[in-house]
Amino acid sequence: MITLNNGVRIPQRGFGVFQVPPDETQRAVEQAIEVGYRHIDTAAAYNNEAGVGAAVRASGVPREELFVTTKLRNGEHGYESALRAYDESLQRLGLDYADLYLLHWPNPTADLYVDSWRALQRIYTDERTRAIGVSNFLPEHLDRLAKEFVPAVNQIELHPTYQQRELTDLCRERSIAIEAYSPLGQGHDLRHVTKIAAAHQVTPAQVVLRWHLQLGHLVIPKSTDPHRIRTNFDLDGFVLTDAEMAAISALDSGNRLGNDPRTFAISQIR
Ligand code: A2P
Repeated sequence: MITLNNGVRIPQRGFGVFQVPPDETQRAVEQAIEVGYRHIDTAAAYNNEAGVGAAVRASGVPREELFVTTKLRNGEHGYESALRAYDESLQRLGLDYADLYLLHWPNPTADLYVDSWRALQRIYTDERTRAIGVSNFLPEHLDRLAKEFVPAVNQIELHPTYQQRELTDLCRERSIAIEAYSPLGQGHDLRHVTKIAAAHQVTPAQVVLRWHLQLGHLVIPKSTDPHRIRTNFDLDGFVLTDAEMAAISALDSGNRLGNDPRTFAISQIR
């Protein structure tokens, strides 16, 4: 568990459903909950909130024991639009609240994220979500948000070959929890840690996820494979040495796999 800057506790290991097809989402999330995940990360833009909500409701696990994150779609920036988008996400989820609501991208060309952030503050102060945060925010975007309302998390692309150290240092300084998406480098980073994995008799994915945990990152690995869903959660049986941590940290190449937050803006603002 990690304690966010507003005192709310969030399970460090989450299950991510980016690119999980809508018709496979419920099964994958139900399985994730069954093997122990208590934190699920979705977004309006993934088109699979309904499957996440259905799995949460079908799981038999009390709602308050699960932590559900969703995000504002890029085309829904703006104060009124963001308020409406949150309601629509809840409707699709079939839930009364999300634990964490994030601005998915700054979408700086629209220049509305400051207004959207005010809407999230309103949702939070109305006690309709337990925490609010951002995703894909660079220092220049974080600096424009109200000083008195610091995001609880910044969810960013983060894996051994793309570590964004300047940004993570800034988040640590400001008590913004760092949440790693594409934590396995979409699978590509695994080939760099096979020796360390063999030494511990674990999988390369377990090594990379363990590296994130030891650095204090929240992680949200994605998988639709039942065996991987299980083993990606099973991270308690070994500890990486300082030398192994340093060897993995030395893999940074500065190459981003996903979109560039400075320019990414696919949707029309509605
Ligand atoms: P799959 O869904 O077939 O398991 P990331 O979370 O960094 O985006 O990585 C997700 C990618 O890595 C997916 O392609 C996923 O494929 C793959 N993946 C997830 N877990 C593992 C694992 N334990 N071993 C190998 N590949 C994995």
